[in-house]
Amino acid sequence: MEEEDKVYFHEVSFIDKEGQLRTSKIPVVQELARQLKGLNHLPDKFKRVHPDHQLVTPSFALPIPTINMAKLRLVAEPQHKVRAQELAKLASVAKEWGMFLITDHGVPSNVLHGVKDVVKGFFGLPFEEKKASVGSYASVENMGYGRNFVKSEDQPLDWIDRLTMKAAPEGTSEGLHVWPQKPTNFRQAIEQYVREARKVLDDLLEVLAESLSLERHVFIQQFDTNESEINVRVNYYPPCPRPDQTLGLTPHTDASALTILMEFDTSGGLQVLKDQKWLPVKWPRDTLLVNVGDMLEIMSNGRLQSPWHRVVTQMDVERFSVALFYNPASLAEIVPVRNTTMEHESYKNVVVGDYLQHFYKISPTTEKVAIKFAKA
Ligand code: OGA
Ligand code: NI
Repeated sequence: MEEEDKVYFHEVSFIDKEGQLRTSKIPVVQELARQLKGLNHLPDKFKRVHPDHQLVTPSFALPIPTINMAKLRLVAEPQHKVRAQELAKLASVAKEWGMFLITDHGVPSNVLHGVKDVVKGFFGLPFEEKKASVGSYASVENMGYGRNFVKSEDQPLDWIDRLTMKAAPEGTSEGLHVWPQKPTNFRQAIEQYVREARKVLDDLLEVLAESLSLERHVFIQQFDTNESEINVRVNYYPPCPRPDQTLGLTPHTDASALTILMEFDTSGGLQVLKDQKWLPVKWPRDTLLVNVGDMLEIMSNGRLQSPWHRVVTQMDVERFSVALFYNPASLAEIVPVRNTTMEHESYKNVVVGDYLQHFYKISPTTEKVAIKFAKA
């Protein structure tokens, strides 16, 4: 076989609907994209019916609102007018969208660029070297290099390759080969970003509570400093010959409490469902995107809602994104804030690990259903 035509696979294992452990081989999209370059063809396994259904054309899309973190950090004067205005904006944006951009977030741009360099360095390695550089663990929450959410042989595949790691608590992936060995500073660059991003996430948990007129600590007190989790997922969307026929990432909510996203090389691809329509999300360089996850919806007792979102692919353009998912400790029980306006509570206490297990067991779903697990 010509080297050019060689087919590369990620090996995945999954529990099927009958509860059987199965293994399957999923094409490495990066290699496939190389081979299909210039062709007008997509393998059937990636095809979906009408990915453009209910899509708002980009020129008609509302821009995602932007929140200035520096203004919210003016804590020295709680009654500061600028701060109060930004807090009011945060309240309406978070409730209406569950997703917003942040500027003046304080993550140094050299740290963001460090992430970009190591991620591109990793994906720039030949496939065999990527595979040798990092293991793949379907049994450990799909960590490593490969794919997520493969549950059956007949499910349409996403146009994506991913790399997943657990960055906190420290030592959780000890003994596992989940951090790429190449580029050599990969782990260091990501951990530096995680440390900076955690400050932003912690501040956001406080100001989000405050913006909802709740006691400032109601959310953050559920995140033990040493035990709370940050999972890192690097998404790579190679150029796609038929963006009209496939998706980069199947529609979903994030199971996390909060997610913070950076993207690079191109803007565009992420879409959020708002008022039954898919809206394209674009964000300027060095701006970060934040979204509410299911666990914050539960903690806020439905005051905030996790948005349903997906990613579309682009022709001749590659795109990277890095998502950090912030969760309380796996053994922690999350406690929804009391509802004063409604007669009954919407959500009940759930153990974080139980929720995650349920979420991954039933994903992917065609609608937002995993969260029903936590309905009172
Ligand atoms: C995710 C996600 C969006 C993106 O990783 O959960 O929604 O733009 N990513 O890659
Ligand atoms: Ni997501």
